[in-house]
Amino acid sequence: MKSATSFAAIVGLLSGAADAFWRMECHSRTGLARIDPLVEPNEIANHGHVIHGGSNFGMDTTYADLRASECTSCRVKEDKSAYWTPSMNFIFENGTTVLVPQVGGMLAYYLLYGENIKAFPANFRMLAGDTRLRNFSGPVPDPPKSNWGPEDKTQFALGQKALGFNCLNYAKTPEGSMYRHFLPDKQYMDENCADGIRAEIFFPSCWNGKDLDAKNHKDHMAYPDLVNDGTCPEGFDTRVPSMFFETIWNTAAFKGQAGQFVFSNGDPTGYGYHGDFMTGWDPDFLQTAVNDCTNPSGNIADCRHFTLQTEAEGAKCTFKMPDVLKEDNCAGPADGLCGNVPIQAGPEYASLVQPGDSATPTGGYTPPATTELPPVPTLSYKAPTSAVTDKYGGGISVAAINAGLSQASEVAIAATSTPVVSEAPPFVTSAPVVPEQPQGHVISTSTYTSAGTVYEVAIMEVDITVTVEPTPAARHRRHVHHMHRRDREHGLLGRY
Ligand SMILES: *[C@@H]1O[C@H](CO)[C@@H](O)[C@H](O)[C@H]1NC(C)=O
Ligand SMILES: *[C@@H]1O[C@H](CO)[C@@H](O)[C@H](O)[C@H]1NC(C)=O
Repeated sequence: MKSATSFAAIVGLLSGAADAFWRMECHSRTGLARIDPLVEPNEIANHGHVIHGGSNFGMDTTYADLRASECTSCRVKEDKSAYWTPSMNFIFENGTTVLVPQVGGMLAYYLLYGENIKAFPANFRMLAGDTRLRNFSGPVPDPPKSNWGPEDKTQFALGQKALGFNCLNYAKTPEGSMYRHFLPDKQYMDENCADGIRAEIFFPSCWNGKDLDAKNHKDHMAYPDLVNDGTCPEGFDTRVPSMFFETIWNTAAFKGQAGQFVFSNGDPTGYGYHGDFMTGWDPDFLQTAVNDCTNPSGNIADCRHFTLQTEAEGAKCTFKMPDVLKEDNCAGPADGLCGNVPIQAGPEYASLVQPGDSATPTGGYTPPATTELPPVPTLSYKAPTSAVTDKYGGGISVAAINAGLSQASEVAIAATSTPVVSEAPPFVTSAPVVPEQPQGHVISTSTYTSAGTVYEVAIMEVDITVTVEPTPAARHRRHVHHMHRRDREHGLLGRY
């Protein structure tokens, strides 16, 4: 047993409704394939996807099929939903293309924003993002949400702001979720993103209350006017759980290698990132969870209704690859992206080039202007989480609350973003080491207003006791983060 002093950032809600959420941990994918039963049912999809969730997944998957899944790759056995996004790939200078290693599958957050949240009905499905987008129309970085005008609040603008490419460096202050809406360039990643890139996408959560899908898989849904929370537009008054996907890609594995990162849809910019969701829940069961599982910890183990399975059990769950795709090689090494998807860097709207089309892809890649952005967000950027989720450090991150703090407390914030989940999956960037009722000495406070709610941020110095291998005491403060990581690697979580 060693004692160490650390800091904890505590955010208290002075007014406003409490928010709750859980993180659906989908540690493994069910597969990687050119399949998209939502956008391109019954055909080979344009580009490859990493797919998670229910096992009964294929080119023509329906809700009934998902319900009939024998297993799920996610932690909760009752969840047979399917979650998918494009994969990230690396193209070496010689053209050889490989899948970037995905770290820990993905997380699908179910954030319970708003009132009277209705569980997804049977057959509900939706798409977030637009595979053809290659530019961003708003100012960079986002103005503070309190200053958002009508042009920031169009559904198009909200959708563009719903994407994030979080440069991970666990030794540093985490960036806010959905802070940067484009993929940084290779050089920036090599220099800054020692732990990879976390691709993020927030789904619209305002439903028109009647359509289970739409022709473009979007028009039945709308974003509230602050992306994650805020006011739903007229006609979209039914709040459903706010879905937020996080997927970590180990881009750092390619540090120093010449080449380019590109998503499987031929997008090197990130603007065309997208996510697909098809519910595979029993609606009554999900409604019970939505009503009862309001613990702000985000830990799915805190929802008593869920039947959990281990990561290893989930890893055994895969879908059957359709015969027509057996020759496909979406993981590489291959000569280009699977489906021969051309790279289209934009900025113009990308064409949906099909394999064999004679259309010439736009060559030449100019990375978006990464260097204009400061490495960490400012306090004014409050995304995409509530104060309560901030308190718990979500992968939905605490960065927004730590602007303006001293160097010393940056270490503390890094410490709050380590997992306490007992299985300690290495990819959960999110759970806290903050005790439920921290006892400590407040060293700094500040308040800010977001969406009409006043939040108080208190930076507290607390004593923590950690059970770890002997570590030189002098290193504790400087290397709080690394200490936690060692815990995780050994599967021994400290007691805080
Ligand atoms: C291209 O370069 C990569 C990295 O050096 C190498 O692993 C791969 O084998 C090369 N491909 C070919 C076809 O030579
Ligand atoms: C940006 O993308 C939009 C499509 O959403 C397109 O209409 C517009 O022309 C693009 N801008 C540029 C500069 O190409």
